[in-house]
Amino acid sequence: MKTTLREITMANFRECLALELGPGQERLVASNMFSLAEAKADGVSVPLAIYADDTTVGFVMYWYDEANARGYIDRLMVDHRHQRKGYGKAAMSEVIERLKSNPNCREIQTSFAHDNIIADKLYASLGFRRTGQLTDGGEETIVILKIT
Ligand SMILES: CC(C)(COP(=O)(O)OP(=O)(O)OC[C@H]1O[C@@H](n2cnc3c(N)ncnc32)[C@H](O)[C@@H]1OP(=O)(O)O)[C@@H](O)C(=O)NCCC(=O)NCCS
Repeated sequence: MKTTLREITMANFRECLALELGPGQERLVASNMFSLAEAKADGVSVPLAIYADDTTVGFVMYWYDEANARGYIDRLMVDHRHQRKGYGKAAMSEVIERLKSNPNCREIQTSFAHDNIIADKLYASLGFRRTGQLTDGGEETIVILKIT
């Protein structure tokens, strides 16, 4: 199966909204509906559908802050029926490459709920490291990938 990221359009946004998390996972990430609305409102976030061949399996959203030379990966989810098949990691790797294509990009930031062991392991395997910082409100652990 080939993992690709595709723009969200009229042709596939319903599929993105129909993606489901597993029991207890809903609290770990905002709903795709919320994220699409946020992207529309903030005008900077890039929401993308994750595909395995021609099947929509997940959702990811990022943005690049040129002023601080920093990329942010704000959302990542894979439908529970498609988890543990490598799609989440492949999608993260592709987003990292896209952010790195900004010539000044020095680091990429993401975060996860303190008890989200799967996200912790996944991001660590891609080179993200803890900074000791938490997100506003203290709910999430911040990790940074340094671009050399
Ligand atoms: C986090 C998430 C996106 C991972 O997606 P995925 O496609 O299942 O992950 P992958 O198959 O690419 O796995 C990548 C790595 O994550 C870790 N991982 C994934 N599922 C795991 C599980 N059930 N138990 C332990 N580790 C797991 C492993 O380190 C794995 O690498 P390995 O297979 O080489 O051991 C998915 O579990 C998800 O949508 N979770 C709910 C929402 C969420 O937590 N999003 C992140 C918010 S910060």
